[in-house]
Amino acid sequence: MGLDYKFVLWNQYKKKYDMIIAGFMIIFLFLFSGITLIVNRETTIETLVIRGFGILAMVLLHIILVIGPLSRLQPKFLPILYNRRHLGVSMFLAALVHGGFSIFQFHTLGDTFPIYSVFTSNLDYFSLLNFPFQVLGFFALLILFTMAATSHDFFLANLSAVTWKLLHMLVYVAYVLILLHVFLGAFQQETSLLTISILGLGFVLVAVLQLLSARKELRTNKIESVDSEGWFRVCEVDEIEDNRAKIFIVNHEDVAIFKYENKLSAIHNVCKHQGGPLGEGKIIDGCITCPWHGYQYLPENGQSPPPYTEKVATYDLKLVGSTVFIDPNGHAEGTEVEPLIISK
Ligand code: HEM
Ligand code: FES
Repeated sequence: MGLDYKFVLWNQYKKKYDMIIAGFMIIFLFLFSGITLIVNRETTIETLVIRGFGILAMVLLHIILVIGPLSRLQPKFLPILYNRRHLGVSMFLAALVHGGFSIFQFHTLGDTFPIYSVFTSNLDYFSLLNFPFQVLGFFALLILFTMAATSHDFFLANLSAVTWKLLHMLVYVAYVLILLHVFLGAFQQETSLLTISILGLGFVLVAVLQLLSARKELRTNKIESVDSEGWFRVCEVDEIEDNRAKIFIVNHEDVAIFKYENKLSAIHNVCKHQGGPLGEGKIIDGCITCPWHGYQYLPENGQSPPPYTEKVATYDLKLVGSTVFIDPNGHAEGTEVEPLIISK
């Protein structure tokens, strides 16, 4: 972990963030209940709870899914990305209230075990209009539970960053299941046009932002040519801002080339904490600082400053005139590489 591990412990910023999430959830539920009761005075408390928490979970999930691409497109959104896990756990809790209450409401009156009843009360699995949509919600909830339960740094350390990342990519599977859960459910329930519109608009927003951020990444990563010694020509030295980096794909790996104190250093772009893009961070106090939660690495060896032990791979660079070249064969994680001095 970085020098600033306290960043990811409980601090003032984190408390403020949590209070904003809690405030948003409470206001949302109050507004939802108020508006629903104005429109339909007959709405029961059970329906209010099931629908209110279901829509709240869906809205929070959309916020979670757009934060990543938004902060890639515009770094001003990075503070929201910080601590996205708390948003994820809050979303799971809202989904749990919705799912749990639905099971209680619709599956506890018979003599069948409630969870078994979710799968067997409607066996129309081959019908589109009458599909047992609750089963899809159940699987989505299981995924959200797995993600929330493994969101702590303890699991990150024990599962390895790659496994953890893969596990958390399941959020997209959960998203598709939820889309189907709501759309197929709408054929059978009185799901309001508003819910369907929020979901449709949300889907378009998520898709457009993901595409825009992928396009930006492709542009950033263009390698222009390879010299006779096999070094990749990456960019002109002036194209890299001071204390910042440019990111390139080198031999299928993301590499960040940093410029600082009239020097250049290249390290693997993927943070050991949760795979954050180091090249989108800054040099702070002489350390490359991950934009997501502040883990830090020394540019000259890719190692977190003592007492921390994280290490990323380093790369050799050379300058021909003002053009930067990189040796695509990186060094082992934590290998010392003399920073390249930029001649005046
Ligand atoms: C055990 C898991 C789940 C069960 C049993 C379940 C059950 C239900 C039921 C019965 C409805 C129809 C409610 C009604 O219209 O009266 C519904 C709708 C809905 N569910 Fe789920 N659900 C589950 C999981 C989820 C999850 C994980 C999410 C989202 C994160 C979700 C989001 C929604 C939404 C947005 C609606 C539409 C609400 C509306 O009618 O406006 N559900 N669900
Ligand atoms: S500090 Fe969390 S991903 Fe880098």
